[in-house]
Amino acid sequence: MLKPEIEDGQASLADPQFRADVLAGLARRPRAIPARWFYDRRGSELFEAITELPEYYPTRTETAILREAGPAIAGHAGAGRAVVEFGSGSSTKTPILLGHVSPSAYVPIDISGDFLRDSSRALAAAHPGLAVIPVEADFMRPIALPAKVANTPKLGFFPGSTIGNMTPAMAIDLLRAMRTSLGEGAMLVIGMDRIKEAAVLVRAYDDAAGVTAAFNLNLLERINRELDGTIPVEAFRHKAVWNDDRARVEMHLEATRDVAFTVDSRTFAMAQGETIHTENSHKYGTRDARILLRGGGWTPVGEWTDPAGLFAILLAEAQAERPAP
Ligand code: AVJ
Repeated sequence: MLKPEIEDGQASLADPQFRADVLAGLARRPRAIPARWFYDRRGSELFEAITELPEYYPTRTETAILREAGPAIAGHAGAGRAVVEFGSGSSTKTPILLGHVSPSAYVPIDISGDFLRDSSRALAAAHPGLAVIPVEADFMRPIALPAKVANTPKLGFFPGSTIGNMTPAMAIDLLRAMRTSLGEGAMLVIGMDRIKEAAVLVRAYDDAAGVTAAFNLNLLERINRELDGTIPVEAFRHKAVWNDDRARVEMHLEATRDVAFTVDSRTFAMAQGETIHTENSHKYGTRDARILLRGGGWTPVGEWTDPAGLFAILLAEAQAERPAP
């Protein structure tokens, strides 16, 4: 990887939230850095490569389910909704949903304005006549949607099992925020990865070609690049483990020897075998998925899976603000 040609001091141009998360995450025990920081340009490229790996079944499985479920989702939702996508990275799945539900508008929400502009432009070009209204925002909090769609019923779209990156408590907060953002009468299409044989799960996050390892290790390279870090990347190894108690795959970066380094002029030391926890990918059984939705203010009304039951797409409707007991 080439070092960007920047002068000393320019590292201060890095995202202040990235700096804060990394410094706090390396200082606490267990050490942990939020998974959202994987996705710089290189990380996004590596994630794209992951989605095509033979071991990584979620993307292709979810895409196939969405193709199958499209007509039934359209039947439940009816035409003319505003499709609101949380995150705007799913370049292949979005057109499948849009192609089935005859939307009146498409509102992608993303924290990264760059990705948002790129994917909005591509979507608008592929769907002439569709109103594409990007919103740059953090969708973990309730969002005021554009006035243009204020009186249009919404269809939320949250594919990719991204909800799996959150702990159940965070996932429920997010679902409730979505419920608030999307309003009365809204529906939600959400993808969740299923619990399955541990070996299959671990292989999906520790592929033979080492792409997921490179994706994980790129976080250290990004820290070195953007936060003026001196982390010896070659002294870390990618580790993926199934945590059965918490029903999640965890990714870690493990120090293969004692290491000392600085980030943004702060020093850190890690003993051999110590890890930095970089990602959780929670998996949900059939009832687990429905309980999660209900806990977040959504009533499941439809559910589709692949023949092997690897992955699920659920359709839910917003609960009334004060539901009956
Ligand atoms: C994008 C969060 C769905 O958890 O499966 C893939 C990210 N990490 N391989 C997942 C990921 C390692 C992915 N999500």
